[in-house]
Amino acid sequence: MTGLPRGKVRGARIAALGVYVPERVLTNDELSQFLDTSDEWISTRTGIRERHIARIDQATSDLAVEAAKQALERAAVDAGELDLVIVTTITPDMVFPATASIVAHRLGATRAGAFDLEAGCTGFVYGLAVATGFVAAGIYRNVLVIGSEVLSRSLDWEDRTTSVLFGDGAGAVLVSPTENGSIFSFDLGNDGSGAEYLGMPAGGSRLPASHHTVRDRQHYMKMTGSEVYKFAIRAVADSCEKVLSDAGLTPQDVNLFVPHQANMRIIEAAAKRLGFKPEQVFANLERYGNTSCASIPICLEEAWASGRLQKGDLLLMTGFGAGLTWGSCLTRWDL
Ligand code: COA
Repeated sequence: MTGLPRGKVRGARIAALGVYVPERVLTNDELSQFLDTSDEWISTRTGIRERHIARIDQATSDLAVEAAKQALERAAVDAGELDLVIVTTITPDMVFPATASIVAHRLGATRAGAFDLEAGCTGFVYGLAVATGFVAAGIYRNVLVIGSEVLSRSLDWEDRTTSVLFGDGAGAVLVSPTENGSIFSFDLGNDGSGAEYLGMPAGGSRLPASHHTVRDRQHYMKMTGSEVYKFAIRAVADSCEKVLSDAGLTPQDVNLFVPHQANMRIIEAAAKRLGFKPEQVFANLERYGNTSCASIPICLEEAWASGRLQKGDLLLMTGFGAGLTWGSCLTRWDL
């Protein structure tokens, strides 16, 4: 027994952050030119007004490499010093090999192990937990966690119930040891009974690619939005409450709450249940849509650049998504 509350570890910090977002912006008005939708519907139901879309020659590893390079440059850490590269994504370059293997090679991380971590849109928080474990246990010193997505390739652009919600982007953090110990408390959860509500049905061992799966458009994301919506509000609020109470803290102690950016109504409902004031909650999905595993680091970059997130602040990050999975991380911002 260490005497520390469950889920709480010491000795790891976010030592650097990097982000990459493709240039091309796709607005709601542009979407309404080829889909039966409108800016009014999308913005009032979700809060989203535009999203970024990767160039046709860019895959998930390409976005990941750009975000990773920025994080390494800011940390003045050479890729050769990396011990482990974790890519969290639901849109890997291909089923295998791992996107992380490609990214590590492109970065020149010749000493590093590499693997992909798939936990739906909660991937970034799960990746952070894994990296923290390796660093806090003293196994590794420099672990890169990259959330990267080219969701525009897995969307059915004829399906207005999914295609208006998502965007492309990448964010990376370097997790390294610290003597003082930023607080890192985690809550990770899963309920596979909801697996059917969000996913890509075909292309795996259950339903391999065939003429039928292509004809039936089963290689695209499918979602039962109303079920995911109800789950998300409950999961975010419960997970935040748990990670805070494990650390002996309350919502009032949090300087900034950065939830996964899926829908403004989900964020507002969860924040209300937790009693957060608007100034404690960060959201930027208006300009990015849902970038899945990249949404939290993209928020961190903007919150940090604008001064809303400052060194020493208590930061609460919460993700949720396919699985169904959820997860929260509580840390002191150390940049
Ligand atoms: N444009 C215009 N109309 C649309 C539309 C669009 N893009 N998408 C759906 N509609 C229509 C529906 O067909 C439905 O029409 P009907 O009443 O004639 O059948 C109507 O709008 C209402 O649809 P509904 O699904 O009830 O809307 P909603 O208020 O539940 O909002 C979501 C739908 C998808 C925005 C909402 O359920 C949601 O955000 N869910 C969570 C999704 C999510 O975050 N997933 C990722 C998790 S990581």
